[in-house]
Amino acid sequence: MAIERTLSILKPDATRRNLTGKINAVFEAAGLRIVAQKRIKLTEDQAKAFYAVHAERPFYGSLVGSMITEPVVVQVLQGENAILKNREVMGATNPAQAAEGTIRKLFAESIEANSVHGSDSAENARSEIAFFFAETEILP
Ligand code: PPS
Repeated sequence: MAIERTLSILKPDATRRNLTGKINAVFEAAGLRIVAQKRIKLTEDQAKAFYAVHAERPFYGSLVGSMITEPVVVQVLQGENAILKNREVMGATNPAQAAEGTIRKLFAESIEANSVHGSDSAENARSEIAFFFAETEILP
């Protein structure tokens, strides 16, 4: 199996409720290694750019607004099949549909305040990691 990296964001609803450690523990228990991490406050321009792919969707403005309310923790997770594994550990986008034991089932408040973001493909993982991290900041 391939060792991959994926971009993870602990969203404002998670940092507001002091859930950083609890969510990181779920990643680590699943075999994902946090090889880069920083707590930052996204600017509106950064949030708009990061979610530009959703610019035409009706929730875009609300999603961007929610991402700048509180700090976020941006992370690079590394491990075997990290992209898919992280998607499994996060659970469905809508917490009402998330499986038992997943981060969103455990912690998410709504489809918008759903605690975590994770890259959905290898190509997006590369570009999303580069959006936040220089290669020298990633320490396996
Ligand atoms: S996914 O995982 O990309 O397939 O999910 P998707 O449904 O395309 O959602 C993409 C992101 O948009 C957020 N989202 C919403 N925000 C506010 N309101 C509504 N209705 C809504 N629907 C989806 C969702 O949390 C996803 O955020 P990220 O950060 O990418 O997980």
